[in-house]
Amino acid sequence: MTRTFELAGLIRSDNFIDGAWTPAQDNVRFAVTNPASGEIIAEVADSSPADACAATNAAARALPAWRARLPKERAAVLHRWHALIMANLDALGALISLEQGKPLAEGKGEVAYGASYVAWFAEEATRIYGDLIPQQQRGKRMTAVKEPVGVVAAITPWNFPLAMIARKIAPALAAGCTVVAKPAEDTPLTASALVLLAHEAGVPPGVLNLITASRDHAVAAVAEWLHDARVRKITFTGSTPVGKYLARESAETLKKLSLELGGNAPFIVFDDADLEAAVAGLMAAKFRNGGQTCVCPNRVYVQAGVYERFGALLAERVGALKVAPATDPAAQIGPMINSRALDKIARHVDDAVAHGARVLTGGKRLAELGPHYYAPTVLADATAAMQLNSEETFGPIVPLFRFEDEAEAVSAANDTPFGLAAYFYSEGVKRIDRVARALEAGIVGINEGAVASEAAPFGGVKESGYGREGSKYGLDDYLSIKYLCQGNLE
Ligand code: SIN
Repeated sequence: MTRTFELAGLIRSDNFIDGAWTPAQDNVRFAVTNPASGEIIAEVADSSPADACAATNAAARALPAWRARLPKERAAVLHRWHALIMANLDALGALISLEQGKPLAEGKGEVAYGASYVAWFAEEATRIYGDLIPQQQRGKRMTAVKEPVGVVAAITPWNFPLAMIARKIAPALAAGCTVVAKPAEDTPLTASALVLLAHEAGVPPGVLNLITASRDHAVAAVAEWLHDARVRKITFTGSTPVGKYLARESAETLKKLSLELGGNAPFIVFDDADLEAAVAGLMAAKFRNGGQTCVCPNRVYVQAGVYERFGALLAERVGALKVAPATDPAAQIGPMINSRALDKIARHVDDAVAHGARVLTGGKRLAELGPHYYAPTVLADATAAMQLNSEETFGPIVPLFRFEDEAEAVSAANDTPFGLAAYFYSEGVKRIDRVARALEAGIVGINEGAVASEAAPFGGVKESGYGREGSKYGLDDYLSIKYLCQGNLE
């Protein structure tokens, strides 16, 4: 029978190494707080390099047996894990909301979203094909086979505490790799709960190991993995500066890297767009997780002919959003993750207003609700001189930039070092083809704001990183190709 847990039963505060919950070797802990109130939820292990090394030891020991399992045996474990996640959807959703702050409906939605990657890669595990290369010489057979890369280190962010770690661990396990993982310091509890369920599902000891660490200790703990030659791959979702650091530091042992980094996505509304659809698409894309999503539109370009009308329609919808703690069933926007995030949002809005932006709605902290709330905001007359043009805001702020023609919009959209997602709305068939090809992004939403799916390749170009998660391509990042050349056959 599939076991279900109450929320409290899912909370673990130790590291999970070699199949056992163990405190940090230094016995140090750090507090995890509820961003809605600042209250402490749990005190979890604050790991050192020694804990990171213990995790790698376990993962390296477990690798030969796990990679030797039949793909359908690994798939069966992943299917059981998926069933357990779905059976515990309500409690996991509540845990996400508790430590991350997103409204409960979104927390539950994230559980189903994360679980969909586990189901997807359970299936993909059984489809890892190689190639028989057309014969080049008599008596010689050439084949290409795919093998797991080895021990994988997964480092995950706080904005989707379940989905991001699920979509890294699932393909790694499907491919036959073993894993050492470190979730973000703000949201370690959901990751630990997921590992608990993986253990329940029958993931063998050492195959999946998790350590937690505070902001002060995380760098040293992760450095242990970066410099350990047994760790063959790093998969990371987070900021571009951290991604660059991981690439630099792991270069000594030439690890394979998947980096899903910053976004600053453009969203273009052309004169010929269906304006109602464009407003709905922007609302869906922008306000998911309160704007704290790498693929959230951050720079909204609206053509002059529809600029004022679009701004008015949008401001009305944004002004009606309900901001409240995750526990309020009517909440649509929760608190931001911490005070640093809130300060950055406030700095961007203040700077924009100082440079001439008009506040159509919002534009202020909501201190009466708690320490980390900011009103959903629409700013008109945004310009390239503003900080929010070049820095990703990661909050519920929509700046509206005016443009005259297509070339100007595409050039402004591409004028960024980032290239994760981009969106545009137009009813023109030829324009759709031209703009889709011209946008420098790994993901393009065309008359659509909800782009994420386990069946689609998720990832960026330029300084948004490399590698793809999800889809039939997602497994390749965890595999290496071995060429076998067999002679003397005739
Ligand atoms: C992210 O914010 O990094 C991921 C969001 C998604 O999966 O849609």
